[in-house]
Amino acid sequence: MRPARPFRFPGIDEDIARLSRLLRLALRAADWSPPARPAALNLACGRADETGLLVETLAPAAGPLFLLGIDLRGPEIQEARSRWLPACRPGQELDFRAGDASRVDRMRQLPPFDFIFIRHQNFWHDPEVWTRLYRHAVDALKPDGLLAITSYFDREHELASACLRQLGTAPAADLPHPHSRPLNDAPGKSVDRRLALFRQAS
Ligand SMILES: C[S@@+](CC[C@H](N)C(=O)[O-])C[C@H]1O[C@@H](n2cnc3c(N)ncnc32)[C@H](O)[C@@H]1O
Repeated sequence: MRPARPFRFPGIDEDIARLSRLLRLALRAADWSPPARPAALNLACGRADETGLLVETLAPAAGPLFLLGIDLRGPEIQEARSRWLPACRPGQELDFRAGDASRVDRMRQLPPFDFIFIRHQNFWHDPEVWTRLYRHAVDALKPDGLLAITSYFDREHELASACLRQLGTAPAADLPHPHSRPLNDAPGKSVDRRLALFRQAS
């Protein structure tokens, strides 16, 4: 799905293409394929630049889906709306809301989700909030659903993964990205440096 307006910065197109390949590989490793009309949640989504790749991966051949993105930052949510809402196909329901993604337990009328995505998760920044965010995300998954995280740096990825295991999930895939784009002002950090998938432990 092509965005209705260009991405904000040069290089994002390439980041998204790399992330798309990484996610597809991880889903294959986890032996997971989306259902006929997947319900997906993109938590702490920011501008949600990855929306097109999520739609294409979860709803191949422009099939139907429901995808909701949530972030605290209103301007980023507005930008996501303007880029993606005009781009979606009939039967594809996209929604972006400004709000606290650690409180999906309080959002009435959300369906159970087949796939929950958290790109560049921020566990390091505030473990308490992010533990709550993960707990409610795990609770919002269907029994056979998958939760995906990506991380800018290895230590944060390990901490988030440990937290998710403690919350009763089992890792389904964990892939480093050999060609992720380094952040010039942050040594050791790179775009989608790691991607991991979790499912509810049986
Ligand atoms: C590192 S940025 C990642 C943004 C986006 N997922 C991406 O990869 O470009 C972390 C995001 O988490 C959001 N965030 C942090 N705590 C949040 C919360 N409790 N609810 C919703 N969004 C939150 C911030 O507003 C920010 O957009």
